[in-house]
Amino acid sequence: MVKSLISILDLSVEEIEKLLDKADDIIANPAKYSEACHGKKLATLFFEPSTRTRLSFEAAMYELGGHVLGFSDAGSSSATKGESVADTTKMVSCYADIIAMRHPKEGAPLVSSMHSSIPVINAGDGGHNHPTQTLTDLLTIRRKKGSLDNFTIGFCGDLKFGRTVHSLIQALSRHKNVRIVLISPEELKLPSYVKKDVLQKQNIEYIQTTDLEAVLPELDVLYMTRVQKERFLSEEEYIRLRDSYILTRAKLVRNAKEDLIVLHPLPRVNEISTDVDDDPRACYFEQALCGKYVRMALIMELLGIRID
Ligand code: NCD
Repeated sequence: MVKSLISILDLSVEEIEKLLDKADDIIANPAKYSEACHGKKLATLFFEPSTRTRLSFEAAMYELGGHVLGFSDAGSSSATKGESVADTTKMVSCYADIIAMRHPKEGAPLVSSMHSSIPVINAGDGGHNHPTQTLTDLLTIRRKKGSLDNFTIGFCGDLKFGRTVHSLIQALSRHKNVRIVLISPEELKLPSYVKKDVLQKQNIEYIQTTDLEAVLPELDVLYMTRVQKERFLSEEEYIRLRDSYILTRAKLVRNAKEDLIVLHPLPRVNEISTDVDDDPRACYFEQALCGKYVRMALIMELLGIRID
């Protein structure tokens, strides 16, 4: 059976650990993998804007010696002519060996995987999930902190529409002694399908607050997010909420632990001031680099390519 990655929960904790180990090995020995995907093709079907995710998928495939085809704008695909995701997938399955799909509609990559004869990777579906960003986040946390257990993580910003937050919380809920601090305005709180079905069901310790500075001293990891403008129905509401949180160097110096790590899936808008970038706690650009390596590991795994 073809294996796809639609939700991070499609992978067991052990499978994730193996992918992260593989990514660590790729970082240490890149030459070993330079022909791993020789002759293979990745199709990147991006119906929604992206910089990091699409380019890191493409860079990952090139670094494995493979090829890339696809589109980065729904406007240049047959979707504008009314083609369904199912039909696009069936057709692309004839041209490529693996698909990475981003789509503004929640569930579109799942539908794609149901009509595909090749693996489909969810590269972000609406305000729902983003499992490969989660692999990126987990690799960064493990490389920086040494483990995926025993820490306090604060999620700050748009927890309602932030799909990277939903997937990372799902993943962390399976680890030991991870405390979760949810920091958002009332209007952008974590949706109940994550709160009830993940945090409460698994008895994960969490608190909700609107005050970043009050909880900053407790955090080992701070996961900042952008307010997701494109998911708002009202521009006025977006403008009112967009600058709810701005992390500055002064706030870090005043309140944060010395060994805090600050993550952000990027792109950043205003929520992290650029004066934080030179602080050793800022890890978001390194995080973006981790994204390429973990996607290399994932592509090989889904294509069944083993290099030991
Ligand atoms: C995120 C996304 O697309 O959900 N970006 C990314 O993939 N690195 C976060 C965002 O757009 O805010």
